[in-house]
Amino acid sequence: MKRTPVAELLQSKEFGKEIQVKGWVKTKRGNKNVAFIAINDGSTIHNIQVVADVATFDEELLKKVNTGACVAILGTLAASQGKEQAVEVIAKIIEIYGIADPESYPLQKKAHSLEFLREIAHLRPRTNTFGAVLRIRHALAFAVHNYFNSHGFFYLHTPIITASDAEGAGEMFHVSTLDPKNPPLTAEGEINYEEDFFGRQTNLTVSGQLEGELGAMALSQIYTFGPTFRAENSNTTRHLAEFWMIEPEMAFYELADNMNLAEDFLKYLINYALTNCADDLKFLEQRGIDDDKTKKAEDRNEMTLIERLKFVVENKFERLTYTEAVEILVNSNHYKKKKFEYPVSWGTDLQSEHERYLVEKHFKKPVILSNYPKHIKAFYMKQNPDNQTVAAMDILFPGIGEIVGGSQREENYEKLLTRMEEMGIHAKDLWWYLDTRKFGTAPHSGFGLGFERLVLFVTGMTNIRDVIPFPRTPKSADF
Ligand code: 4AD
Ligand code: MG
Repeated sequence: MKRTPVAELLQSKEFGKEIQVKGWVKTKRGNKNVAFIAINDGSTIHNIQVVADVATFDEELLKKVNTGACVAILGTLAASQGKEQAVEVIAKIIEIYGIADPESYPLQKKAHSLEFLREIAHLRPRTNTFGAVLRIRHALAFAVHNYFNSHGFFYLHTPIITASDAEGAGEMFHVSTLDPKNPPLTAEGEINYEEDFFGRQTNLTVSGQLEGELGAMALSQIYTFGPTFRAENSNTTRHLAEFWMIEPEMAFYELADNMNLAEDFLKYLINYALTNCADDLKFLEQRGIDDDKTKKAEDRNEMTLIERLKFVVENKFERLTYTEAVEILVNSNHYKKKKFEYPVSWGTDLQSEHERYLVEKHFKKPVILSNYPKHIKAFYMKQNPDNQTVAAMDILFPGIGEIVGGSQREENYEKLLTRMEEMGIHAKDLWWYLDTRKFGTAPHSGFGLGFERLVLFVTGMTNIRDVIPFPRTPKSADF
């Protein structure tokens, strides 16, 4: 008999029908006459209750139906007597696929800390919280493709192994098949990468943008959505060494068009989750409310999770320039009372605390900052006529800080080449990138959305390690 997912059974009204449900036991309770077994198969946050008449089952078998065990149950669907659920399953045959010894199974009924669950990332998808997060993560990934597909964008698969450093930040993981103990050397005693697999030095990509631009210069509108890798030693709640990024790139878009697209896209994604992940969001919202009760009054969220998501969907993002933002920051009481840890003045890169002050304290809504000083941004950004700033834009979100980074691109060959030389980026390595500026160049723009930062915002989780199944961070690559 084919199994029916729990999500489907819970919606069914076909009482009396014979069905089969398979899944993992969440809890078992009851008395000497009857056992109530809650089963979850990950199709929904909700469990289905299985009722077993103790007298009709082997005692040894029922003993093995413990939290964590995997079972297949054949039975009939019935209207539930209990008030907590509408349907339940009256068990006829219970088959145990896999036992879970209660002495050693780490996921017991009590609530576990997120820190503990990170140590058992192989089992944490079975918890309510991670089930909800993973289903929402899936829904958002699906929505990304949906959005672009319906807006005339093409999904371009950019390479994961590259020879270039798109962001020019030098935070790359090297890819090599040379023997680290005995690498071939050049006459000068340097490692001879000509003998390496690709005949040159290669690394894992930090961004698909540069190749994305090549696609946009032919297909007009493309997007990439893939894993990116950064060897930055940032042990924060917002950084991963391996994260997923969505990067659309559009020919004929200027900076304002880029901002409009990014705002519309973010709102679409959040609204998609509100519409399609209601049960999981309700669960995570309650989790947040309970969590807030353990915090000091000033650290509590002003809005619940669903209120926050609706607020972002319904309100226009605030748009201002970097220069205006710095003015707000240096004129703030927060600044005057020396409450910022890092210095801020025109020309400094904004730290997370500055970004969050603007979003959470000053504007109390998402903010798009534009036209940053050129020396704190990447070489490819379009230079503004003032010679000081570039046509960059970052989107800042409450509780997250930067969620999107993007820009209009420098399409002028001479200006791009000069900027690369100034920043020590070798033209000979990026000849193919420069070629697009030689042959049929066009104004174009794009941005990158950090997928995990989006999932963080939508789920209300607070540590980025808890929104990706198997996080990669400094000194941690288990599972
Ligand atoms: O601002 P970033 O570095 O921009 C780029 O990589 C551009 N090439 C994007 C483009 O224009 N096509 O990164 C973009 C976003 C950030 O705003 C942030 O959301 C996310 O990627 N991000 C990270 N997320 C998790 N862990 C990290 N270490 C991240 N670094 C960036
Ligand atoms: Mg950035």
